[in-house]
Amino acid sequence: MSKEKAAARVRELRALIEHHNRRYYVLDSPEISDFDYDSLMRELLTLEALNPELASPDSPTQRVGALPLKTFSPMPHRVPMLSIDNAMNEAELRDFDGRVRKLLERDEVTYCCEPKFDGLAVELLYRGGVLVTGGTRGDGYTGEDVTPNLRTVKSIPLRIGGERPPELLEVRGEVVMYRKSFQELNRERSEQGEALFANPRNAAAGSLRQLDSRITAGRDLSFFAYGVSDAAALEASSQYAVLERLGGLGFRVNPEVRICKGIDEAMKFAISVQEKREALPFEIDGVVIKVDGIRDQDELGIKARSPRWALAYKFPPTQAVTVVREILVQVGRTGVLTPVAALEPVKVGGVTVSRATLHNLDEVRRKDVRKGDTVIIQRAGDVIPEIVSPVLSKRTGEEPEFAMPGACPVCGAPVIRDQGEEEEGGGQGIMFRCVNISCPAVVREQIFHFASKDALDIEGLGRKIIDKLMDKGLVKNAADLYTLTREDLLGVEGFAELSAANLLASLDRSRRTTLQRFLYGLGIPHVGTVAARDLAGHFRSLEQLTEAKAEEIEAVRGVGGVMAQAIRGFFDRGENRAVIGRLFELGLEVEPPRAGTPGDTSLSGKKFCFTGTLSRMTRSEAKEEVQSRGGNVVDSVSKSLDYLVAGAEAGSKLDRARSLGVAVLTEEDFLSMIGGV
Ligand code: IVH
Repeated sequence: MSKEKAAARVRELRALIEHHNRRYYVLDSPEISDFDYDSLMRELLTLEALNPELASPDSPTQRVGALPLKTFSPMPHRVPMLSIDNAMNEAELRDFDGRVRKLLERDEVTYCCEPKFDGLAVELLYRGGVLVTGGTRGDGYTGEDVTPNLRTVKSIPLRIGGERPPELLEVRGEVVMYRKSFQELNRERSEQGEALFANPRNAAAGSLRQLDSRITAGRDLSFFAYGVSDAAALEASSQYAVLERLGGLGFRVNPEVRICKGIDEAMKFAISVQEKREALPFEIDGVVIKVDGIRDQDELGIKARSPRWALAYKFPPTQAVTVVREILVQVGRTGVLTPVAALEPVKVGGVTVSRATLHNLDEVRRKDVRKGDTVIIQRAGDVIPEIVSPVLSKRTGEEPEFAMPGACPVCGAPVIRDQGEEEEGGGQGIMFRCVNISCPAVVREQIFHFASKDALDIEGLGRKIIDKLMDKGLVKNAADLYTLTREDLLGVEGFAELSAANLLASLDRSRRTTLQRFLYGLGIPHVGTVAARDLAGHFRSLEQLTEAKAEEIEAVRGVGGVMAQAIRGFFDRGENRAVIGRLFELGLEVEPPRAGTPGDTSLSGKKFCFTGTLSRMTRSEAKEEVQSRGGNVVDSVSKSLDYLVAGAEAGSKLDRARSLGVAVLTEEDFLSMIGGV
């Protein structure tokens, strides 16, 4: 590249990066993915390195973040909070290792490898063991003093344990919001018609940057410690020892930390973390690889904006930019119309995405997504891909605003508007519904719901198969499933002896079910698994419930007027009663709730976690047993867990429970605890 071209590109990149810095750090409303941002930054770093005469103190490469906002008082960092260089691939990781080994004149270096949290970096200052100040990273030199907000974060110790706490200790770490809390928060916000947070990182940042700490207190934030400004304060000679000391002082430290001898081990570890990334309860965007020895770190020293002893191996993005080809409208189980964006296929977090839900009309309007828009999409954990926002600067002006169709896109029947309560799409406000109760889309979704895991759990009955069975006229409602024969199935495209036998076997297994599952499977509007459990526990038989008046139904704990009306309305409809009648004729058996319900609170307030393979029950049955006795089931092991139930081949959760001193039960122990053996 010629000098002039390089200079022009450098100017362009600086302006672009400053623009995106502002979108990200100041407005909390990024226009490009982190991955694309990092690519711009790396291009600029490379050009500046190749053309030293272009260096400039005001280049975005000369600072480590963005300036703090003006609203909080500044908190200077005694020791700057540096940033870390990124590696996007194995070669860059090996280059880093090569540099480190050369500088340390060593054949192999020991690394402390830690998942890289995707949250907000903060520093906590303790004097004499007491938390006095806490602030964000800001530009690395000065952050924002958000002490009152940080005090509301429960995993931040206000006073640190140990006999003689260091006189001064600056703890660094990340404030994150767990995926579950993030989803819960957004669900509440959508119910209240408030703007949704795009991802847990933004939710954590937005929650921490509140001028009113009572708002922060209502948000479920967590803090993980990953370092200190000065390891000498902890008399630690390695990064690993720093983490151990921090854990001992009462900080939450990521258990997924590994000492790796040499870069091969570090690389393997990074890949293993990447593989279980989605299973973690919080978001991470890479693995940080740190030279473990503190003396070695000191010897390596720092460069302009980052230390030479650390590198972040970044995972492929979970956000990406693509184009909306079309906004389609899907018809759900209750006839509700849901807009869905059909996208130019794009890879996000290793998966190709071509669709994203838009929930409802309000959501489309709030996000202002249109056909033809360039949009930022993201995948978070097991969540359906969603559109974060359109990139308004890419609009041509030709993009049409979205409108709901007047006729059902599946059966052509009229569409009515009603002021819905909470619906399957999770949204609220105006709902659009197909009036045709035998609309093929509605029937298909009802059958699919009836067969789902928490309902009759008919394995192998997916939407495509239901469509084929309906097209052939073999199935018009859930009861028809139990009339299917081997010959019927062999006549359906895609079925062979084995697959037909398998489906018939799953259908047969599903014939014996519980009242809770059956009630849930009926797909009565508003009746989810929790309500189904409470109703089953209260009425104890289907007859009792079908004969109950709306007021009696409403008297059940957790059941409101709208749900009670929906239940009454459901059983008052002749067609519904007919299908239920036929199900019983075809051999369906519904067990009343087992002993223990209702009102069994023997496990009240107890937290359980299951790991490994259970042999006598499925995970979801085990969960039901705990919940029906008032207990809770969580996904991760922490100090507050009461019992870890370990089935066969239990892995890291078991190790962690043991190290935390959490009680571990075998499956048999658990069964005898619930009186099941
Ligand atoms: S160590 C010099 N460890 O990554 C090294 N940082 O670019 C100082 N981050 O916003 C940081 N997880 O908050 C370190 N386990 C971890 C981390 C981590 C996430 C963040 C950090 C900062 C960014 C550095």
